[in-house]
Amino acid sequence: MDADAINEMNTEIIDEINRAHTTKALEDIRVRALGKSGRITLALKGLADVSPSQRKDMGFKLNQVKIAATKALDERIAELEPLEMQRALDENSLDATLPCRPMVQGRTHPVFQVMDEVAAIFAAMGFTIAQGPDIEDDFHNFTALNIPESHPARQMHDTFYLNGNDENGNPYLLRTHTSPVQIRTMLKQKPPIRIIVPGRTYRVDSDATHSPTFHQVEGLVIDETSNMAHLKGCMLDFLQAFFEAEDGIELRFRPSFFPFTEPSAEVDVKIRDWNWLEIAGAGMVHPNVLRNCGIDPDKYQGFAFGMGLDRIAMLKYGIPDLRPFFTSDVRWLKHHGFAPLDIPGLIQGLSGNGGAKL
Ligand code: PHE
Repeated sequence: MDADAINEMNTEIIDEINRAHTTKALEDIRVRALGKSGRITLALKGLADVSPSQRKDMGFKLNQVKIAATKALDERIAELEPLEMQRALDENSLDATLPCRPMVQGRTHPVFQVMDEVAAIFAAMGFTIAQGPDIEDDFHNFTALNIPESHPARQMHDTFYLNGNDENGNPYLLRTHTSPVQIRTMLKQKPPIRIIVPGRTYRVDSDATHSPTFHQVEGLVIDETSNMAHLKGCMLDFLQAFFEAEDGIELRFRPSFFPFTEPSAEVDVKIRDWNWLEIAGAGMVHPNVLRNCGIDPDKYQGFAFGMGLDRIAMLKYGIPDLRPFFTSDVRWLKHHGFAPLDIPGLIQGLSGNGGAKL
């Protein structure tokens, strides 16, 4: 290749670049000139066959061509790219100034909102939160709680049993109450104990005020002196805080029976002039239960309660039927004001114009 041929190649390539109208065409030109087997690349490779006297001069010239081509390509691409972008926007009639779709923001389910409220009140009273598994074994759910073989809760038709047995040959089950967490806590922690256990529980039960899945909050206090009077005071303090009412809350302890407490009571609450509603079972922890957990009943004592979380949520928020808590109907959740919230600005925008309210 002589000097003229090199000049000619340079002119051709630069002309081609200037005539190109798309970045795609420029890319093709780049490959044909500077790619692996492009014209300039091959010419540079060909220098090996050129006589040493000419090689330096030709090498310099070819490099000039390479630099000029690269620069011309970059400049032309910088010119064409914004034009192509604008053309694409025009063709797709995309309006980048349109407002985005309204975002729907989720919120806490009423039951979990109530769980948080309950936890905050008991935390202020010095309780810590304990948790346990939803799938329990016979020992924690029944045996350690002093529940006899003949107890109805152990019957197939009252409890959800799972396929698969534990090491004692008893089937696993969905816990029927939060009380097994009393056992789990007392087995690993020595008194004084002061815990609450909010959680999900299961029973074969279904009507307007009973659901197969429901929620409880268990309370357990074990020390050397706590008694029934403390239990009653503790529950009253809690209910006054929860219902945000100093007066107008009455508590009624009805004598009852639970295998794991002695004495035992059903706890009813009456708020202002409403009817009495049963919200909890409670009592002094049975000595057998303490013994089952390696705690000396002659030294330690205490009280426990199991409160229906859904029940107190219904009472606080005036919800007559328990079932919608578990059917996830967004219309119902929205109606009760718990969620999902729309972006305030968007709602204001519409209602401010006298338009429909979302
Ligand atoms: N576990 C009982 C139930 O679910 C309630 C309860 C808890 C009663 C603690 C006494 C003490 O019915």
